[in-house]
Amino acid sequence: MFNKRIKIKELLAQEPAGQTVTVMGWVRSFRNNQFIALNDGSTNNNLQVVASLGKFEEELLKRITTSASLKVTGTVDASLGKGQKMDLNAISIEVLGDCDAEKYPLQLKNRPTLEYLREKAHLRFRTNTFGSVFRVRHALAFAVHKFFNEKGFVYMHTPIITASDAEGAGETFRVTTLPLDGTAPKNEDGSINFKEDFFGRTTNLTVSGQLEGELGATAFGDIYTFGPTFRAENSNTARHLAEFWMIEPEMAFYDLEDNMNLAEEFIKYIIRHAMEHNREDLEFLAQRLADEEKQLPQDKRSELGLIEKLEFVLNNNFERITYTEAIDILRESNYNKKKKFQYEITGWGMDLQSEHERYLVEKHFKKPVILSNYPKEIKAFYMRQNEDGKTVAAMDILAPGIGEIVGGSQREERLDKLEQRMAEMHIPAEELWWYLDTRRFGTVPHAGFGLGFERMVQFVTGMTNIRDVIAFPRTPGSAEF
Ligand code: 4AD
Ligand code: MG
Repeated sequence: MFNKRIKIKELLAQEPAGQTVTVMGWVRSFRNNQFIALNDGSTNNNLQVVASLGKFEEELLKRITTSASLKVTGTVDASLGKGQKMDLNAISIEVLGDCDAEKYPLQLKNRPTLEYLREKAHLRFRTNTFGSVFRVRHALAFAVHKFFNEKGFVYMHTPIITASDAEGAGETFRVTTLPLDGTAPKNEDGSINFKEDFFGRTTNLTVSGQLEGELGATAFGDIYTFGPTFRAENSNTARHLAEFWMIEPEMAFYDLEDNMNLAEEFIKYIIRHAMEHNREDLEFLAQRLADEEKQLPQDKRSELGLIEKLEFVLNNNFERITYTEAIDILRESNYNKKKKFQYEITGWGMDLQSEHERYLVEKHFKKPVILSNYPKEIKAFYMRQNEDGKTVAAMDILAPGIGEIVGGSQREERLDKLEQRMAEMHIPAEELWWYLDTRRFGTVPHAGFGLGFERMVQFVTGMTNIRDVIAFPRTPGSAEF
């Protein structure tokens, strides 16, 4: 098996027995001209490299500065010092990349703020916090594929450039090669002639792979997508990105309840995977969060630590209530003046704001909640119409500290009902002929949902800002790197 070097995580799991190894990594600190804390990104734990006094040239030792990169070969022995199980007694040290200590922007002595680190895309990965966050993100992504693979789902790659606005919210980024300087070809009425554009039509970046995913599900049975999605919502919040990753499973022969069952099992599965494989990182993040919360007044602190919260989620059923029941709870809470909302509870039919969702999850039930059967007016055209004529078979999952983490529904599989709803909502049926075909040729009941991957990573890592769980955040006014 090819192994360029041993990873520090793997080495630290071994017993020190005089074995000779080669490690490569970056210097975290260098003490007494002798002890190098070396980190290679595989774990937050550093390897203590001992450069015995007198053994190495002064010229070399001077180059061992914070964040310089090294290749070290040495023997692994039980450590004489406290705090680590092993030392790597260096036989040879090679500086692969120097780091000018004067110019180095991260002086880790005074902990840099998360905001500051966002401006240092490269170096923020070298901090313990982001090391843990991105290793957990990896574990969750891996678990997504593992979960669906074990269930026999087909992973589908739906297009990033598309002509459809699946959610009908109109918050799309236009994709065009036409010039923006006023010289674009025009129609007779003066509007831009997009027939002359690259694709011969208007196109945008996808907001969701669902509609294409439904074509897959109605042939392969069960599919999932896992890809980037783009929304030009002007929401500068700690929960919105303009570019985010979504997982969208779509299942033939599923109804709304099957959909909820799968979503709950899925969320628990990926959390459990991270708990089993990234315990150390989660414990680090739990401690970080606890330290951060010490700054807050008592009533603003979480009741449970991060690990306890995740365990609680794994060991309890999500609460399942209808939209109508939710409105009653919110109304009640408002009457009792237990909680005054910024957005008033005007009554049945209103769209829920995130403060309402968070009240239900954090104050009322104190656990994840699956809200179902929303008024059709506030949901997308493709959701299955219920017998009452007022609601659709939608379901959202709301998570403590985050709010909406999943949006999904049973789909309207009846062609006539779907066409009628599209007409009511002014969605051009001729453009979606390929979607409507799924209802023409052997339609089936089916359902699916979308999990916002970054919101999931936020939930598991306890990071309060979504910009800190994606490597290169894109938000209104910000697309650096
Ligand atoms: O609720 P949404 O809009 O649902 C859909 O797109 C459906 N097509 C899904 C489906 O049924 N296949 O988005 C799904 C999830 C939300 O619950 C949220 O977690 C996340 O995507 N999300 C965002 N995450 C980060 N930034 C944004 N701007 C987001 N908008 C939605
Ligand atoms: Mg939604």
